[in-house]
Amino acid sequence: KGDPRLEAISAAIRVVPYFPKKGIMFQDITTLLLDHKAFKHTIDIFVDRYRDMQISVVAGVEARGFLLGPSIALAIGAKFIPLRKPGKLPGKVISESYELEYGHDRLEMHVDTVEPGERVIIIDDLVATGGTLSAAISLMESQGAEVVECACVIGLPEVKGQHKLKGKPLYVLVEPS
Ligand code: PRP
Repeated sequence: KGDPRLEAISAAIRVVPYFPKKGIMFQDITTLLLDHKAFKHTIDIFVDRYRDMQISVVAGVEARGFLLGPSIALAIGAKFIPLRKPGKLPGKVISESYELEYGHDRLEMHVDTVEPGERVIIIDDLVATGGTLSAAISLMESQGAEVVECACVIGLPEVKGQHKLKGKPLYVLVEPS
């Protein structure tokens, strides 16, 4: 708060009403990616926060966690693990389902990618209900990894998600105005 970089990040996110359907104010980070300064601020803030926390794994949630996670992983000297929608990963996977507004979805992860005790951060563009991040936490914990924190660029105000995140801390940069 009071960090001018956060203002720049906020300003670079485009809000698209009624996408992909009525009632949704879509938070579009493709415009953030077009703004080199704001994009760099975003990565820098995460890197500064996590570089001295003995993090060895950055896990990114499909799809937009893939746009952020690898840059952070490279900068802090961690590996990157993609958490994907069902049927996308070719190796042996474990799977975790989570509730959507209507129905449910699943997130998958390759097994044998983390050692027990490895310290992980999970990254995504946005948290709303926290259902997706909770599934990501469960996947990592099932492999014996320690989830240190979940990190998102945008936190929607309905982030009562916090209590849903299995008690793990949540770090968000901006909230929509
Ligand atoms: C969005 C967003 C998060 C998730 C957050 O992805 O990128 O992954 O929703 O919602 P939650 O906190 O209520 O779980 P989406 O489900 O639209 O999938 P996509 O990235 O494949 O478009």
